[in-house]
Amino acid sequence: MQVLESLLNDFTKELGPINKTADLLNLKAKYIGKQGPLADVMKNLKDATPEEKRTIGAKANELKQQIEALFSQKMQEIELADINASLEKDKIDISLTDSMLEKGLQAAGYHPVTIIQQEIEDIFISMGFEVLDGPHIEDDYHNFEALNIPATHPARDMQDTFWFADKKHLLRTHTSTIQVRGMKERKPPFRFVGPGKVFRCERTDASHEMVFHQLEGMMVGENVSVGNLIYFMKTLLTEIFKKEVEVRLRPGFFPFVEPGFELDIKCLICGGKGCSVCKQVGWVELLPCGMVHPNVLKAGGIDPEKYNGFAFGLGLDRLVMMRYGIDDIRHLHGADLRFNSQFKSF
Ligand code: DAH
Repeated sequence: MQVLESLLNDFTKELGPINKTADLLNLKAKYIGKQGPLADVMKNLKDATPEEKRTIGAKANELKQQIEALFSQKMQEIELADINASLEKDKIDISLTDSMLEKGLQAAGYHPVTIIQQEIEDIFISMGFEVLDGPHIEDDYHNFEALNIPATHPARDMQDTFWFADKKHLLRTHTSTIQVRGMKERKPPFRFVGPGKVFRCERTDASHEMVFHQLEGMMVGENVSVGNLIYFMKTLLTEIFKKEVEVRLRPGFFPFVEPGFELDIKCLICGGKGCSVCKQVGWVELLPCGMVHPNVLKAGGIDPEKYNGFAFGLGLDRLVMMRYGIDDIRHLHGADLRFNSQFKSF
């Protein structure tokens, strides 16, 4: 009886500071487990008088129930505390405000190339174009052959290529690869653009990078004309620069178009008078384009007698640099947060 009387007190004392499930389970075992004092008392009961058996047995049972009740209460407390702690730890503060940003927390943002790319995609979508994707790793056929650049063609040297060791695969040197894939999957009339990264094995400097971005465009149908090409390009550039731009076409050579053009815009910095941006010419070369070569249409499964089209390859990095006044293309892949965080945040 003496043992029993002090047992509850001792248990409660030891229970107080416990805050881990494992410790709690150990404590329970210590008091009411098979090797515990309560079990001892029960074992010794066999030598007791019937009267003692009744009172001590009843007391022992009552005690066991009390300990079990205290145990489950404590268990619930610990579980609740654990849940609260993990809620606190994983908390996402959706009310994060500018004042939090001032305290040094940074919101993520879009890369300037992404901003321009999305804007241009939206412009083309509004003009009825689809937006297509294509693989970075290409084969000779899609990057060259199907674009009317056969193996011996000198135009291959215009694009220093990263070849894979198998000599069959390469990192696409331009987004024109998307043309053939796009044509094969549709029937004219259609129009689509294909933005993405392109790769060239070039020495880098302020205006050259090994990884840069283009947006390919193509429109195929009956009686598509150079007039259509100029219209779409002018509309695009006016939307991008948010003002009327003057364009001019010069002849340009690209094996996949005939005729091919270089489309220039009148320099937006000096208005055509000549400055360092336009190298004193008054015009900036912006958009190579042309009427799709019959061989390319054929490679895309399209009858060049019946259909024709235009294509263009817009360099996105130059546009980004003009828009934001960035003087070195290498900033775009520099992964410098001081640079990256200057653009639109989510
Ligand atoms: N693929 C060419 C390049 O990267 C750019 C280009 C020129 C694309 C003329 C075209 C085009 O679609 O018609 O240099």
